[in-house]
Amino acid sequence: MNHEDMNKLLKPKSIAVIGASATPGKIGYTVLENLQKSGYQGPVYPINPSATEILGMKCYASLADVSGSIDAAVMCVPVKLVNACAEDCGKKGVKGLIVITSGFSEVGRKDLEDELIATAKKYGMRILGPNIVGTLSNSDKMNASFAPFLPLDGKATLVTQSGALLIAMDAATYTRRVGFDKMVSIGNMCDVDIADIIDWLNDDPNSTCTSLYIEGLKDGRKFIKSGRASKKPIIALKSGVSAHGAAAAASHTGSLAGAAKVYGSAFKQAGVIQASDLDNLFDRTLALSLMPPLKGENLLVITNGGGVGVLATDAAERYGIPMKFAPKDVQDEMKKHMPEFGSAKNPVDLTGMAGTEWYTESVRFAISHSWVEGLIVLYCETAMTNPLEIAKGIKQAIDEAGQKDKPVTVSFVGGEKSAAAMAWLVENGVPAYGAPDLAVNAMAALREYALLRETAKEPSYKPNDAARKAAMKIISAARADGRDALTEIEAKQVFMAYNLPVTTTELAKSEDEAVALAKKIGFPVVMKIVSPEILHKSDAGGVKVNIKDEAACREAYNTIIKNAKAYKADANIHGIAIQEMAPWGTETILGSTNDSTFGPTIMFGLGGIFVEVLKDVTFRVAPVDKVQAVEMFDEIRAAAILKGARGESPRDRKALAETVEKYSNMISDLEDEISESDANPVLVYEEGKGLKVVDARIILKKK
Ligand code: ACO
Repeated sequence: MNHEDMNKLLKPKSIAVIGASATPGKIGYTVLENLQKSGYQGPVYPINPSATEILGMKCYASLADVSGSIDAAVMCVPVKLVNACAEDCGKKGVKGLIVITSGFSEVGRKDLEDELIATAKKYGMRILGPNIVGTLSNSDKMNASFAPFLPLDGKATLVTQSGALLIAMDAATYTRRVGFDKMVSIGNMCDVDIADIIDWLNDDPNSTCTSLYIEGLKDGRKFIKSGRASKKPIIALKSGVSAHGAAAAASHTGSLAGAAKVYGSAFKQAGVIQASDLDNLFDRTLALSLMPPLKGENLLVITNGGGVGVLATDAAERYGIPMKFAPKDVQDEMKKHMPEFGSAKNPVDLTGMAGTEWYTESVRFAISHSWVEGLIVLYCETAMTNPLEIAKGIKQAIDEAGQKDKPVTVSFVGGEKSAAAMAWLVENGVPAYGAPDLAVNAMAALREYALLRETAKEPSYKPNDAARKAAMKIISAARADGRDALTEIEAKQVFMAYNLPVTTTELAKSEDEAVALAKKIGFPVVMKIVSPEILHKSDAGGVKVNIKDEAACREAYNTIIKNAKAYKADANIHGIAIQEMAPWGTETILGSTNDSTFGPTIMFGLGGIFVEVLKDVTFRVAPVDKVQAVEMFDEIRAAAILKGARGESPRDRKALAETVEKYSNMISDLEDEISESDANPVLVYEEGKGLKVVDARIILKKK
């Protein structure tokens, strides 16, 4: 990304409005009026072939008539004129195109977008949009959009794929008292995308937090990269999280990989905090834009009401930062600022008698104490106290404590006076909310940010050329055979190339061969049909387990062949796989899918009902290393089972993490070949005893 080009697009020193109109109500009129009203300092050049003056500004028939240089042009002409106007821009030396016009790829006219991209490339211009509202910046006094006014001034930047939402949120900044420095409508992202803006904002001193409204990313991996590299917190609200497309998936993993799950995991990998809804996006943005991250989990709550204190305690547990009792010296000090019947444990209940002084004293002490890592101050409006005075006391205490690296969130519960006091707090840099739950949720966002900064790192990954070569032999043979589904035996050979601990499995083409192989592997064995046309072997009656002797082996051979033919008369039967019968362990599933946005993606979960019924699985965009694998184990609801629940000994998580890493290496190396895959079940044994991949499935990409 060229920073200078991006500056010309998003912080232009001069602007042309192409399609500026003298008719109020037209977008070309509104954009011009907005630039004027917002106090934009640079020269503005209205361009319209048939006007000489608009809104008191000299109007130019064409860009060529303008003598000064122009950084950016806001396009307000109909779609059929955009490309010709872009040509004019290029010739004039314009560097940024802010294309408000609709009618491009969003309505199936990708061709028009491609034309525009080509023109922009030819002249080295960057494009914001098309199909956008425009871009707004308080610090640049620039409303280059048709949103009605600049947002309430603040420290966050909103980047949104929905233009209408930008307009709505712009107005809502005033009612919610959440300030933004910038709002950028990103639209179709034909050139500049969300990742580019994240990168660009790293050097923007006026923006401390990036809030995203995402409908769908185009390049998921680029987004993860810029998220990881961001010097500022990023919070995202993702819409459109239904599991569309999952039904058509051929593998187990494919059917479980809904958009919500993959995006959720990708956000974690990118270090991006999530918002649950619009309210939550505002609330969390407020805290993230004003406060430092919560570095630990020693949270102190100071309140004048037991009820809100308990509500905060419940919320803290719900949001993963459970409360602890404060150490004795904190309690002893707190007791000095409360009556006999107060409680100093945590929440610190100063009681309804608490006035400004008690609040100020206790808040100042709490922030200064080394045990306290984050502070939540709650207040219930009382007849004896003045909310604004309490607010000022809290702010004074924060300033006097002088600790800039400890976050504070506040909740005032009450009426108009409390609302006014909270507005004052926010204006003075302290996030304040109308309910204790919200103050705790905001604190949890600050904790998530601290944790994500630790975990959202580039995983270690080195391509394994030798393994890839061995795997490609098997894949090429299957392709030569006209197949895009490997048989179990072939899939296991690919797994083995990557040193995955698969059960020994060999192919028998006759009853006698089956017996000989079973003897070689050692009874008991498992016998399974091998046919490219029968992927769901059990459904076809194609699996027999615990075959203990030769007679059972012969009988199973014939039954399986008969069942397979009954299931699919024309199935091409390669033979029967004779497989070592692995001792039973904790059933897990590993898989991969090819996400349209993020590419190869790894899935992990517990097998059996956990995956079938509860869909208790988690995802990571590949590559995944051992560290991230362990994060995945801890993330599923049934995490305790692997750690050894209900008296069972812990499972071999170390071996499992190594297996996930190898699996991920295989998927990454063979990114161009493998579409979906499953290792299911993977039986995990006690600590130190490893695991076995019992069944393997690989579906190739169609070529
Ligand atoms: N150079 C400069 N100006 C020109 C040129 C030219 N080559 N050719 C024509 N114009 C002038 C026109 O004469 C007109 O000015 P006038 O009012 O003085 O006649 C002006 O450009 C605009 O042209 P119109 O044909 O009047 O187009 P109109 O203003 O009706 O629509 C617009 C243009 C707004 C770009 C429309 O095509 C459009 O795309 N609208 C949707 C925009 C949108 O909603 N984007 C955000 C989506 S996000 C959301 O949902 C909110």
